[in-house]
Amino acid sequence: MVLFSPLELDSITVENRIVKSATAESMADDDGFVTEKFVEFYKRLAEGGAGVAITGHMFVMDDGKAHRKMTGISRDEHVSSLKKMIEEVKKVNKTQILVAQISHAGRQGPFNPVAPSPIPDPVMKVTPRELTKEEIEEIIDSFGDAARRAEKAGFDAVQLHAAHGYLLSEFISPHTNRRKDEYGKERAKILLDIKERIDEKTRIPVLIKMNANDFIPGGLEIDEAMRIAKLLEKAGFEAIEVSGGMFESAHHTGYNVVCQNVSKSGEGYFKEFTKKIKEAVSIPVIAVGGIRSKAFAERLIKEGYADMVSMARPLIRDPYLPIRWMRNEIEASDCKSCNLCLRSVSMKELGCYSD
Ligand SMILES: Cc1cc2nc3c(=O)[nH]c(=O)nc-3n(C[C@H](O)[C@H](O)[C@H](O)COP(=O)(O)O)c2cc1C
Ligand code: SF4
Repeated sequence: MVLFSPLELDSITVENRIVKSATAESMADDDGFVTEKFVEFYKRLAEGGAGVAITGHMFVMDDGKAHRKMTGISRDEHVSSLKKMIEEVKKVNKTQILVAQISHAGRQGPFNPVAPSPIPDPVMKVTPRELTKEEIEEIIDSFGDAARRAEKAGFDAVQLHAAHGYLLSEFISPHTNRRKDEYGKERAKILLDIKERIDEKTRIPVLIKMNANDFIPGGLEIDEAMRIAKLLEKAGFEAIEVSGGMFESAHHTGYNVVCQNVSKSGEGYFKEFTKKIKEAVSIPVIAVGGIRSKAFAERLIKEGYADMVSMARPLIRDPYLPIRWMRNEIEASDCKSCNLCLRSVSMKELGCYSD
């Protein structure tokens, strides 16, 4: 099966095509230091056999935190507990690629809502403060430093979180970025500047998760996402995970666009966007959103929609799903798309809260 075949990225080899998508763990203490529960969670995922495991978003600056109990990578002190976690996880599965997702919450952060432009967020009920050029420079540097810490801790790669309406997603969206300076004229500039800064400070491979569509009138759409994807490839990003939606999207659509109900939307609800991004670039493209069965996952790769498949809720439900697929023990995830896990972020530790 192509699902269990290896894949060469530019500088890393992935053992199989299954990715555990980023999922906020809410397993850190108040200062962002990971706890023993976080280590146990990633050990189970390592046993479960996904080729790649991406952490939940980690804050690169203290005031860019999205919620309580979020993991931090904003200070050098964060490195030692992350390093210990990676050592433990690698003992369980030394070939699994461990990726740190690095992020700034932007206008969706409760602590200091900032954004490229002061566009009100009807869901967060906030009008963010517009960032100055000096602050943008500081943020670029923070991403560089976060990547340096990730490399020091032993992560195999980092993934920039430019999806779901957080700060980097706000920069590439024409809805939330109305700037007249160079960060508005080329809305992807911040991503390219961050990549350059990371390359100055590290040798760590850089992946990205980006929206292909914001599901907001005047927001990012697929043609523009394809143009940006080409710039990212040229800048040396090694893989693109394709998602969609912001917090604000629910205000326009009436449903959670990122975490849709698969019984209503069908499997792989972003697959047509993913295919378009794949047409635009030759680096590996990762599909995410509603992938639930082995046959469907295999088909996405075989039919050229994506090179890898990424799952979040199915692996919260059962971290051993990849190995069960490999052993033909099960055909599909029994995740009910109830989103109780999502609603618990910041209140309870990550887990499946359905029966
Ligand atoms: C509890 C929970 C936490 C999440 N945290 C993150 C996150 O930190 N970063 C991110 O990019 N996506 C996050 N997501 C979105 C998932 O990575 C994924 O894009 C989405 O759940 C759709 O995939 P699925 O149908 O396989 O769950 C989260 C989703 C859930 C359910
Ligand atoms: S809480 Fe619901 S959506 Fe989340 S993993 Fe469990 S069944 Fe799936």
